[in-house]
Amino acid sequence: MSNSSTQKFVVIGAGHAGGRAVEAMRANGFDGAVHLIGAETAPPYERPPLSKEMLVASGVECPPMHPDAFYADKDITLHLGVTATRIDRETRVVTNSDGTQLSYDRLLLCGGGRVRRLDIPGGDLANIHTLRTIDDSRAIEALLRSGSSIVVIGGGFIGLEVASAARSRGCAVTVVEAADRLMGRALPAEIGDAFANLHRDNGVDIRLNTGVDRFIGDSGDSSVREVVTTSGDKLPADAVIVGIGVDPDTALADACGLAVNNGVVVDEFCRTSDPDIYAAGDVTYHFNPLLGRHVRLESWQNAQNQAIAAARNMCGENEAFAEIPWFWSDQFGVNLQMSGAPIAWDDTAIRGDIPGLDGILFQLNEESLVGAISLNRPRDMRFVKRLMTAGKSPPRDALIDEAVAFRDLLK
Ligand code: APR
Repeated sequence: MSNSSTQKFVVIGAGHAGGRAVEAMRANGFDGAVHLIGAETAPPYERPPLSKEMLVASGVECPPMHPDAFYADKDITLHLGVTATRIDRETRVVTNSDGTQLSYDRLLLCGGGRVRRLDIPGGDLANIHTLRTIDDSRAIEALLRSGSSIVVIGGGFIGLEVASAARSRGCAVTVVEAADRLMGRALPAEIGDAFANLHRDNGVDIRLNTGVDRFIGDSGDSSVREVVTTSGDKLPADAVIVGIGVDPDTALADACGLAVNNGVVVDEFCRTSDPDIYAAGDVTYHFNPLLGRHVRLESWQNAQNQAIAAARNMCGENEAFAEIPWFWSDQFGVNLQMSGAPIAWDDTAIRGDIPGLDGILFQLNEESLVGAISLNRPRDMRFVKRLMTAGKSPPRDALIDEAVAFRDLLK
């Protein structure tokens, strides 16, 4: 980028995407000013450990993304504990909650998502938590004491990882899921069923087709004591974890008139409807050239790699962010990975044993491979991802034949 030393880049959101973006700006040779604004007081970190390692034992710290000296060494100005409250696109100025104003030449939105909360009676009682930040994870960990009764609301990725951790700590765990299956937002019924069995075999009480009516507190200390379900059951609860999904935090983008539709709309170059403003991570509804459509993704991969692509393009490159979506979860020692983001498929092909939690389920549409979900097959999944990225659709017989190595299908 010409005269970059006089330019100023501002990044709103110091989560995974924001942290990788500022790193990539410097790695790409940008030598102008870089400002990173984040509502949390912690410098950027990656979120997967929050619902995994940090919950299974006391005192496990979440590693920061960068060493302490990184930001000073790279001349990146951090504005932590600060929320950007307004973007003026005419004057190209961001106003912050601490009253500061930052002008920008290019702005990157990495505001991520907001956890959904349950607005029902008793919702403000103590020991009811959502899980998104380090502070949330620490607070939940402190409540996972052996013998405690934990009620998890939402049988999605967060809820089920919390359930797994809580059982490993000796808690009694009930999962309350409104839908008729687990992880239904992203995964087919065969996988949800296999995981329902896994959780039940490990002592989790799974309640499907069940919502929450209200929370009842202890008159003494205003902590939650019971969860009343929509079926009228009263579940004892020393703590409640609410994992009912995430909404993109589009308030700033909405207010300044950027195109928003299920997220901040960006093209494959991470550009919003304003040529000076880019966006990356959970907050985007982005065009994926490999899928041929816009998607919104909540994943480590998307936070990391879309942010790097956005930073590079802000520096003057012109590189499309084009990856097959990939996501993983770990529950009770079972590694789940999914590749692709199909909205429709007309055939399912299975290698191995899905109920036995050792296999891969392929989703095919008009004989094209559009999705794959692996259970305890991480090595195979590396090659399956590469097959999908290359746009290859091996014959169904080869997909399901254990004797065929995926590595050979790539040739
Ligand atoms: N009562 C019970 N269940 C509910 C309710 C409710 N009122 N509202 C929603 N649910 C269920 C949904 O049916 C869904 O199965 O909560 C689940 C939420 O699952 P996800 O959408 O996967 O969201 P969550 O588990 O919160 O994870 C959010 O965090 O791990 C990351 O990126 C990952 O996308 C994931 C994000």
